[in-house]
Amino acid sequence: MDGVMTMIRVLFVCLGNICRSPMAEAILRDKILKEKLSHKIEVDSAGTGGWHIDKPPHDGTRQILDRMQISYEGMKARQVHKNDFVDFAYIIAMDDQNIKDLKNEYKGNDDIVVAKLMDFVKDPEEVNVPDPYYTGDFDYTYKLVSKGADHLLAHIRDKHSI
Ligand code: 4NP
Repeated sequence: MDGVMTMIRVLFVCLGNICRSPMAEAILRDKILKEKLSHKIEVDSAGTGGWHIDKPPHDGTRQILDRMQISYEGMKARQVHKNDFVDFAYIIAMDDQNIKDLKNEYKGNDDIVVAKLMDFVKDPEEVNVPDPYYTGDFDYTYKLVSKGADHLLAHIRDKHSI
């Protein structure tokens, strides 16, 4: 036994890293915890923009996570860094603009998956996760993100036989 287990690292990305991607981070981490996979899969989030660095998740994101009893303890916003394309196996964006912004940074490392969360859902009601910073509808975004996280986790478990 080599004793060093390779962590599968997932990074969620949105624009500000205060609404959607921290919501996705907290939700997926909670599912991973419940499925007893915390020793195999790690989750983080970042924004393509840097306006909210070091800020906790948005009030609306905190409220829905509180309601669902999902922890966001210690989470604070950061910006995407070029090392993320080395450190993470999955970089999962919320919308097409995030993908465009990421592709400006990302110079074709084929070993990693760069995709949108809704790509993992068959026949999704939305292909982009709507930004509640603008829509104000955190419940709808939560519903989509939670469903996306279920499918993403199932995909990862299948791919890595865990
Ligand atoms: P997020 O939402 O990308 O889901 O975190 C936003 C948060 C802040 C801003 C834009 C989107 N902003 O322009 O400050």
